[in-house]
Amino acid sequence: MSKVNVLMVCLGNICRSPLAEGILRHKAQALNLDIHVDSAGTSNNHSGEQPDKRSILIAQKNGIDISHQRARQITTNDLDFFDYILVMDNMNLRNVLNLSQGSHHSSKVSLASSFCEQTDLQAEVPDPYYGGVDGFSDVFKQLSHSIDAFISRELA
Ligand code: 4NP
Repeated sequence: MSKVNVLMVCLGNICRSPLAEGILRHKAQALNLDIHVDSAGTSNNHSGEQPDKRSILIAQKNGIDISHQRARQITTNDLDFFDYILVMDNMNLRNVLNLSQGSHHSSKVSLASSFCEQTDLQAEVPDPYYGGVDGFSDVFKQLSHSIDAFISRELA
């Protein structure tokens, strides 16, 4: 199987999608899966920035280093290049679908949580930016389950 390219997308590319990128890369390495993972934001408000300190910390607590990542904005080229584009919430979904230029793009886009079998985990991954640290550990758990489900349904 040729290398699979996966893009994780949220609004700012500093809280949720950097965690999703780090978690998928970590799990794929452990399983010896040859994939390319990146992340981007629908906005350019935080372009060039390191992930939010709270995301860096919750990743670190789980043995994952995301501190090297830098935020960038998604482009239409990403819709050409990546095989899977996993978004965090319905606003991200609308914004990415607005960039897409046909079904060859839009068919690649889905909610990251939609791969979960358990319906209670299929909800959007909520934006934790204005909340407390607990929100980041909830996001981590939801993403970890979602990414396990994504790997077993699409990559394994
Ligand atoms: P993210 O979180 O989309 O998970 O990176 C946010 C980060 C920044 C803002 C909103 C959400 N902001 O409004 O600046």
